[in-house]
Amino acid sequence: MTDDLSALISETEAALAASTDLRTWDAVRVAVMGKNGSLTNKLKELGKVAPEERRTRGAALNVVKDAITAAIEARRAALDAAALDARLAAERMDVTLPPRPVVNGLIHPISRTMEEMAAIFGAMGFAIAEGPDVEDDWRNFGALNIPAHHSAREDMDTFYVPALEAGGRRRVMRTHTSPVQVRTMIAQEPPIRVIVPGRTYRADHDATHSPMFHQVEGLAIDRGLTLGHLKGCLIDFLRIFFGISNLPVRFRSSYFPFTEPSMEVDIGWNRKTGELGGGGDWLEILGSGMVHPKVLANCGIDAREWQGFAFGMGIERVTMLKHGIPDLRPFYESDIRWLRHYGFNPLAAAMLHEGV
Ligand code: PHE
Repeated sequence: MTDDLSALISETEAALAASTDLRTWDAVRVAVMGKNGSLTNKLKELGKVAPEERRTRGAALNVVKDAITAAIEARRAALDAAALDARLAAERMDVTLPPRPVVNGLIHPISRTMEEMAAIFGAMGFAIAEGPDVEDDWRNFGALNIPAHHSAREDMDTFYVPALEAGGRRRVMRTHTSPVQVRTMIAQEPPIRVIVPGRTYRADHDATHSPMFHQVEGLAIDRGLTLGHLKGCLIDFLRIFFGISNLPVRFRSSYFPFTEPSMEVDIGWNRKTGELGGGGDWLEILGSGMVHPKVLANCGIDAREWQGFAFGMGIERVTMLKHGIPDLRPFYESDIRWLRHYGFNPLAAAMLHEGV
């Protein structure tokens, strides 16, 4: 082999060895084997070689070409392998490391209470009913036996919705969930058993009142329902909800326009410690009563055939009592520290106390 060819091989091998990535490797390949490459030019010049030398020169060039092709491919393979090794090293992970804690979203205490109520009353055969937050005056008041100018309207600090007054019946932000009693009785044939969790609105704002809050309504309509059914239902609910099997429950005569008789319900607690149970003090917790015959009539139900009981309670209030939450306002502030403290793990099984 002539000197120029040996030199070409050794130069190419040196250049390949010096190439450290695909870009420099390709530059070497093009410089030697490309259209204007050093080896390509030597092959082109073969025609000019004297005929008697052409065979040996041609054979030598072929040997050189094979050697250089092999060297280029070998370098390419080596660079690819090195790149893969580097990538594997860079992407290596330690599967023995403990997992990072996953921050799950938590269930808001209001949602949690609603879920628990749905579970407890659901087990007693109550379905969930819903209605709109913007109600007409008739369903919020009139059908519930609260006439115009009745003091209950002022008690409830109603938000009226002026834009909607013009076109007919006056609208209000519902001041309680009781209008859904009316909707349900009009839409469904008795027997009826529903609870209605939802938002309610009153123009009131301080440490214990929010202009928007939540209630759950209960309504049962059937033949032969009595105060005994109402009492049994609420005593069972309260004992299961608060998880205190002997929670004292007291029914105190009261007044609501839409129930007769009406009763407020108190549970036992200790005023000094705030602890629920047999502490000797009483805490008002909900309103209830037998559905007023006028309300049944307003909703097209014959009061001689059907009787019913109803109740309503504040969801924030029972939630605060159950979990010892002292202030109402943070319920609506979306403060992540409060939510982490009082929120519930969504993956934890829904609480079902014995008896449900
Ligand atoms: N709607 C009443 C309130 O908001 C509660 C209630 C509901 C009372 C059903 C009796 C029956 O105070």
